[in-house]
Amino acid sequence: MTAGPTQAGVFVHPHGLCDSSDVGVGTRVWAFAHVLAGAVVGRDCNICGCAFVEGGAVLGDRVTVKNGTLVCAGVTCEDEVFLGPNVLFTNDLRPRAANRKAPSELVGTTVRRGATLGAGAVVICGVEVGEYAFAAAGAVIAGDVPAHAFMTGNPARRTGWACRCGGRLTRDLRCPACADRYRPGPRGYGLCLDGVASPLHFADQQSASTSDAAR
Ligand SMILES: CC(C)(COP(=O)(O)OP(=O)(O)OC[C@H]1O[C@@H](n2cnc3c(N)ncnc32)[C@H](O)[C@@H]1OP(=O)(O)O)[C@@H](O)C(=O)NCCC(=O)NCCS
Ligand SMILES: [Zn+2]
Repeated sequence: MTAGPTQAGVFVHPHGLCDSSDVGVGTRVWAFAHVLAGAVVGRDCNICGCAFVEGGAVLGDRVTVKNGTLVCAGVTCEDEVFLGPNVLFTNDLRPRAANRKAPSELVGTTVRRGATLGAGAVVICGVEVGEYAFAAAGAVIAGDVPAHAFMTGNPARRTGWACRCGGRLTRDLRCPACADRYRPGPRGYGLCLDGVASPLHFADQQSASTSDAAR
């Protein structure tokens, strides 16, 4: 196997494939991982063994893609997103083998900065996962997820709130691990770190939300 037309400063394992020419410096692509042409990958990402990143997927900086994870066309993961092993994204809500969709018909998904999708999480397309949200192992995300939501189960429900450090918040929105404090986001959607202005996209996220279950 060979390294593709990747820029200098990108490590591609001799048994990895990187066909994208848009991969940031410091990114590593490990054995049997495949980054397809047309994928955009930021700096200092870690694309672990057997991961598959399709053309049309966009990864920010310092994103971790653990082993066996599929990042398909139409998925955008912002900086410092963590994708556990065998995370599955989708981009077609009602696929049929006989009805092949054009790229323009695929449904996108956005994972905001710092969010974690645990091992084996499945993301049904067309949703937005908010900043620093945390999906437990095996969660099936079928609706928008507010910032800092802690999601479990199938279909995933919010069963708590997650700190930026990964700790679970107490009822008064304090992190026992790092002592950070949070407050409700605009119009009660998601959380914001206390003392920090709300991210600009919060309002968009709320108006676009279709799932009360995820709140
Ligand atoms: C959810 C998680 C963070 C554990 O959180 P926690 O607060 O320590 O939870 P606990 O182990 O105390 O369990 C709390 C409850 O959640 C349940 N639970 C734990 N993990 C769960 C999961 N993945 N899905 C659903 N429920 C889960 C427990 O059974 C327990 O239920 P109970 O209160 O009815 O007994 C952890 O199980 C998890 O999924 N982490 C992600 C690991 C991962 O994917 N890593 C990837 C890199 S290797
Ligand atoms: Zn914390």
